[in-house]
Amino acid sequence: MSIKGSAQPRIDTILVLDFGGQYAHLIARRIREQGVYSEIVPCDIKADEILEMKSKFNVKGLILSGGPSSVYEEGAPKIDIRILQMDIPVLGLCYGHQLIAHLLKGRVDKGKVREYGSTYVTINKPVDILEGLSRKEKVWMSHYDIVYSLPEDFEVLASSSNCPIAAFRHKKKPIYGLQWHPEVVHTEHGTEILRNFIFKVCGCKAGWKPSSIIDDAVNEIKRTVKEGKAIIALSGGIDSSTAAVIASRALKDRLIAVFVDHGFMREGEPEYVEETFRRMGVNIIVVRAQERFFKRLRGIIDPEMKRKIIGEEFIKVFEEIAEREEAEYLIQGTIYPDRIESGARRHSDRIKSHHNVAGMPTKIKFKGVIEPLRDLYKDEVREIAKSLGLPEEIIKRQPFPGPGLAVRVIGEVTPSKIQILRRADRIVTEEIEKAGEIKDRLWQYFAVLTDTKSTGVKGDMRAYGYVLAVRAVESREAMTASFARIPYDILEKISTRITNEIPEVTRVVYDITHKPPSTIEWE
Ligand code: XMP
Repeated sequence: MSIKGSAQPRIDTILVLDFGGQYAHLIARRIREQGVYSEIVPCDIKADEILEMKSKFNVKGLILSGGPSSVYEEGAPKIDIRILQMDIPVLGLCYGHQLIAHLLKGRVDKGKVREYGSTYVTINKPVDILEGLSRKEKVWMSHYDIVYSLPEDFEVLASSSNCPIAAFRHKKKPIYGLQWHPEVVHTEHGTEILRNFIFKVCGCKAGWKPSSIIDDAVNEIKRTVKEGKAIIALSGGIDSSTAAVIASRALKDRLIAVFVDHGFMREGEPEYVEETFRRMGVNIIVVRAQERFFKRLRGIIDPEMKRKIIGEEFIKVFEEIAEREEAEYLIQGTIYPDRIESGARRHSDRIKSHHNVAGMPTKIKFKGVIEPLRDLYKDEVREIAKSLGLPEEIIKRQPFPGPGLAVRVIGEVTPSKIQILRRADRIVTEEIEKAGEIKDRLWQYFAVLTDTKSTGVKGDMRAYGYVLAVRAVESREAMTASFARIPYDILEKISTRITNEIPEVTRVVYDITHKPPSTIEWE
């Protein structure tokens, strides 16, 4: 489900027409940050369709996104030309800017150089969308084609050394073009430009917030599932938890939230998740499947094989429940970055097979898949989770891999090794959390049980036990990460407690590798 229908009738909306540019979604995101609802629509949307949406969405403006094509090539995506005659303000960005010029008989062609990155433009007329800007502005460009001449009735607002028509406007109508990207943070006053467009040009009023989508998402689920049943795989992470609570509001007992305890959860986690969601009125089934997972992992040491087996077994368990419960719809907590990542990964090297319950393939033919959070970013989901009353502990939870502690036990996974790791993990967590604000800087902090043994001395006796690694990283998106510079006295407390409280461990090491070259998890 898209978040179509999420805007209340009185809430002003900006539609972003998507020409396939990598920043298209960011435009909608930046607008929503200003408290104005924004939704992405396909670039070939017809003028009539926009008019039809208008009653429901109060469409106050249109933004044409960037895109990889050249406007003059055959088959290049275009807009329904009547869109430019509708009296709704239009702002074209990059490809959108070139397209407006091209469709209205200006000239667009290849530039002399490709421009990619930060550059300066001269603002010749600081009016309308450029109001309040200085004469020189730092902006982000990413293009080859440029507009060489303007259509009739248009005027230049800004230029750069490579791009004489870097910004334009129609002299009488609210139609604008920018060759640069105001939605990218590297454009110093990008937010001001977008604010000028949405508030001054389009006359929007701020009033939207992420939680405004809740009621509409609930209604949409009700309309789709009708009297049927739906199922969701609940991991206890923020995304599936939020989707589960929204779906539960819509379907009550006809939502079945399934939490599969594969035996690789952290201490107390299955009990915590079960209790929390029961308290919130979610119909939750906890499947205690530890034995079958341990059995399938017996003798397996290859990390990719482990991940594959856990993923497969997870789906089997989930399918058994779905079949038994006769659920017709699958609800997933997929968020927007999950979708970009899976797209991007198609052409990139596979580093690890992520087992992510949100993106679960399944053999069962569901009548439909509903993804109430599919257009949102993590922080927007956090805000929704807060207004749904999800506990702080779930909202602030550190990411945890689908295969759980199984990929933090190096080599063969056994119940006794998981038990050792669980105790070490609790100590790491407790000590970091005690340390206060350090925790807020960390993306993840956890223990890893290596398959190396080492000599130690405990109580005057020789001891021979495991080497346990502690990992703590700082990161923004987990694509890159740096090891955290944890103060030595905290590391000392962790190490002392682990070696004292866990007899099987004789040595504790701290992982001082960044990602890349390492990954965050050890396997
Ligand atoms: P890596 O180890 O690839 O991890 O640097 C990046 C982030 O992803 C988490 N991770 C997973 N998340 N399923 C998930 O949902 C998985 O299979 C999985 N493996 C790793 C990891 O904890 C880190 O935050």
